[in-house]
Amino acid sequence: MLGKKYWREDKKKDLEYIERILKKHLQEELLRIGGDQMAPGQQKLCDAMLYSAMGSGKRIRPLLLLETYRTVSGMPPLDEIPEEIELYMAAIEMIHAYSLVHDDLPAMDDDEYRRGRKTTHIVFGEDMGILAGDALLNYAYELTSRAYLVSASVYRMAGAQMILANKAGVFGMVGGQAQDVEGTGRRMEWKDLQQIYRKKTGCLLEAAMMVGAVLGGGDAQIISAMERAGHCIGMAFQIQDDILDVVSTTEELGKNVHSDEKNEKTTYVSLFGVEKAKEAVEKYSREAMEQIDRFPDNGYLPWVVEELINRRK
Ligand code: IPE
Ligand code: IPE
Ligand code: MG
Ligand code: MG
Ligand code: MG
Repeated sequence: MLGKKYWREDKKKDLEYIERILKKHLQEELLRIGGDQMAPGQQKLCDAMLYSAMGSGKRIRPLLLLETYRTVSGMPPLDEIPEEIELYMAAIEMIHAYSLVHDDLPAMDDDEYRRGRKTTHIVFGEDMGILAGDALLNYAYELTSRAYLVSASVYRMAGAQMILANKAGVFGMVGGQAQDVEGTGRRMEWKDLQQIYRKKTGCLLEAAMMVGAVLGGGDAQIISAMERAGHCIGMAFQIQDDILDVVSTTEELGKNVHSDEKNEKTTYVSLFGVEKAKEAVEKYSREAMEQIDRFPDNGYLPWVVEELINRRK
C-alpha cells in the first residue's frame, strides 16, 4: 500500500502531467492551427477558450479518467500512457470547461467569479462566452475523433466516444442543467433534486471513470462498477459543492458563494441543513470507496476520491 506522502506526490505528478496535456492539445494546437494571422473575432474566441480552460481548475475529471485507466490496465507509469488516453483527458476537461462558462452566464447562474478570477463572459462579453463554450465542446469531439487515428482499437474508441457524448448530452449533463434552471425559484423534493445532481454533476464523473475503464480494456462488469463509483462521487461532490456555497468564502472557493440562495435554488443544504449534508457526503463517499475497493490493483484512486470529497474548494 502507498503511504500518504507518496500518493500526495503522485497526485502532484498527475496534475502536472494533465496541465502539460491541456497545454499541448489546446494552447499549442490553437496557436499552430490559427497561426498569427487570425481574424480579430477568431483571435478573441481562442483567447476566451484558453482563458476558460486553462485557469486553475481541480482537473478531477481527467484525473479520475487517468487513474481509472491505470487501475484497469495494470498501473502503467505516466510516461507510458497512450495518446488516446491523453486526448480523452483533454476532451473531458474541455467539455467541463464549456459547461462552467455557460453555467455562469447571466441567463443561467449569473456569476462573476470562477477559479479565482472574473468569469469568461465578464472578461470577453456574453457573446464570446457563448461562442467559447460552443467551440470548446466541438473541439473536445475533434480530439476524441483524433483518438481513432492513434488507437489500435476502433471498437474501444467508439465505445468511449458514445459514453462521453451520451453522459454530456440531453439525458446527461445538459439535461441536468435544463432541469436545474427549470426548477429555479421553486422548492423541489429530494427525489427530483437527486435526479438533477445525478445528471448535471454525476454524469461527467461517471463518464470519466467509464471511459477510463473502456480504454483500459475493462469488461462490462468493471465498466458498470466504475459507473456506480462515478455516480456516488458525483452525488458527494455536488452536495459538498452546495455546502461550500454556504460555508465558504469567495476568496477561498475562487467562485461566488451564496450563488444558490441568490438564484433561489433548492439544494441538499436548503432542504436538510449543513449537518445532514455532511452525513450524505460521507454516505456517498463510503459507497464510492466500496466500489473502488473491489479492484485489488487500485493505485491511489481511493485517496484521490477521499481528497476530492473532503475538499475546501
Ligand atoms: C464545478 O466543478 C461544477 C460542479 C459540478 C460542482 P469543479 O469543482 O470540478 O470545478 P473546477 O474545474 O475545479 O473549477
Ligand atoms: C453546475 O452546478 C454543474 C455544471 C454542470 C456546470 P453549479 O451551478 O452548482 O456549479 P457551480 O457552483 O457554479 O460551480
Ligand atoms: Mg448551475
Ligand atoms: Mg453555477
Ligand atoms: Mg454550486
